[in-house]
Amino acid sequence: MITAAPNLNCRCLLLLLKIDLLKRTNIMATTVVIGMQWGDEGKGKIIDVLAAKADMVVRFQGGNNAGHTVEIGDEKFVLHLIPSGILRDDSMCVIGNGLVVEPLGLVAEMQELERKGINIRDRLQLSTGAHLVFDCHKILDSLRETNQTASKIGTTLRGIGPTYADKANRVGIRASDLRHPQQLEAKFRHLVASYNLIFERYGRAPLDADCEWNNLAPAAKFLAPLVGDTVTTINAAVRADKAVLFEGAQGMWLDIDHGTYPYVTSSNTTVGGVCTGAGLAPKYVHHVIGVIKAYTTRVGEGPFPTELDTKDSKALREAGNEYGATTGRPRRCGWFDAVASRFTVMINGIDTLAVTKLDVLDHLDVIRICVAYELDDQRLENMPTDIEDLQRVVPIYEDHPGWKQSTVAAKCLADLPENAKKYLDRIAEMLEIPIQIISIGPRRAQVFFIP
Ligand code: GDP
Ligand code: IMO
Ligand code: MG
Repeated sequence: MITAAPNLNCRCLLLLLKIDLLKRTNIMATTVVIGMQWGDEGKGKIIDVLAAKADMVVRFQGGNNAGHTVEIGDEKFVLHLIPSGILRDDSMCVIGNGLVVEPLGLVAEMQELERKGINIRDRLQLSTGAHLVFDCHKILDSLRETNQTASKIGTTLRGIGPTYADKANRVGIRASDLRHPQQLEAKFRHLVASYNLIFERYGRAPLDADCEWNNLAPAAKFLAPLVGDTVTTINAAVRADKAVLFEGAQGMWLDIDHGTYPYVTSSNTTVGGVCTGAGLAPKYVHHVIGVIKAYTTRVGEGPFPTELDTKDSKALREAGNEYGATTGRPRRCGWFDAVASRFTVMINGIDTLAVTKLDVLDHLDVIRICVAYELDDQRLENMPTDIEDLQRVVPIYEDHPGWKQSTVAAKCLADLPENAKKYLDRIAEMLEIPIQIISIGPRRAQVFFIP
């Protein structure tokens, strides 16, 4: 285990005691996997690896703004709504109440996976409480992004914000309505009418409710048999000592409460999202794994203290193939930010790290870690929660020599070059938690655990 911090051994001991206690009380650990940065950390890949030993994989927030990539041999899968555990035959998959689900998107995703030979129907449950995303939400998302250039967020245009807003306004339509076509149609027509009033103000043509309903009705029929009480399903699995994995979408700094607001998504991407978005009591959250890239990326607008200049950002983007899995947009790239990552560890109670994309740094002469910020001649050890301050911070870097050697075939820690080990050591030291998993390529096999 990579341990360099003086108090790290103490942390490890506590973790072992916690796991031992769970074993003695005969509770199988539930594990939450959280993205620690601005999304796209490689959560899909890590979930797929961990799902080999999981009975159930649960998504608890977000929608098809997510794009989780899993590469198995030469085949590439990108999951948007369906948990990444679906690629392991023995895992049951659950779309929790905390999600916003586009019915047509879910049908398309299911059909695509089925075409690739993945068995889904009897392995997937959709929560009665998940809210539904329709064309009207996507259009409003797009109108806001194009008409308010000053406050543009750079969303994925998947209707996520408007759907969560409808949920909070208590006018949303939920997956339970898919089981009651007449009720669904009435609610849907009412929703479209209310959105048409908004579109009028933007000078946009109204939606044709008949046409929209004709598209939706077959999807509703297709999905209705999947709809069920996921809260009971999940809690029954936990009580039966099943291994349950919770798959976070997006990343900590996109959290609606704790992220870089307003440049965030509209759900809680942090660990608390599991309790509300899946209906799991906090005492059953046993282990939290933080997935973190060996550097940092961001898609969309908003502050990014360690962002590289255009030329170097482009070079890192090409090395890491940093293009959005959902929208294809180029990702902004920068150095590892230990200050902001410590904030992530604190908010989520992260137990261990899964470091991904180490191989992307293989060619660099010098690799930088941001160890503190400077603001108005003051050194800051913590991430400012005021976005005006965050926008002005200047990163203080520590330089590490690169290893200039390929890591893509490494099978264990000993296979890594010394400088790569030192770099990882420093990350573990700064975040004061151990690294448990290291990923050195996109494929399922390119990963190893640190015992
Ligand atoms: P997610 O949203 O967190 O699941 O991440 P994405 O799938 O959006 O983006 C991660 C990208 O990096 C995908 O293209 C993955 O195939 C790829 N990837 C994951 N882990 C590694 C790794 O260790 N090395 C490299 N080179 N690519 C990786
Ligand atoms: P995964 O799960 C990276 C970003 C968007 C935008 C902001 C708000 O693949 O890591 P939204 O459409 O949610 O209203 O957009 O959030 N964003 C993501 N960035 N990965 C994601 O998901 C993201 N989902 C949303 O780019 O900045
Ligand atoms: Mg992604």
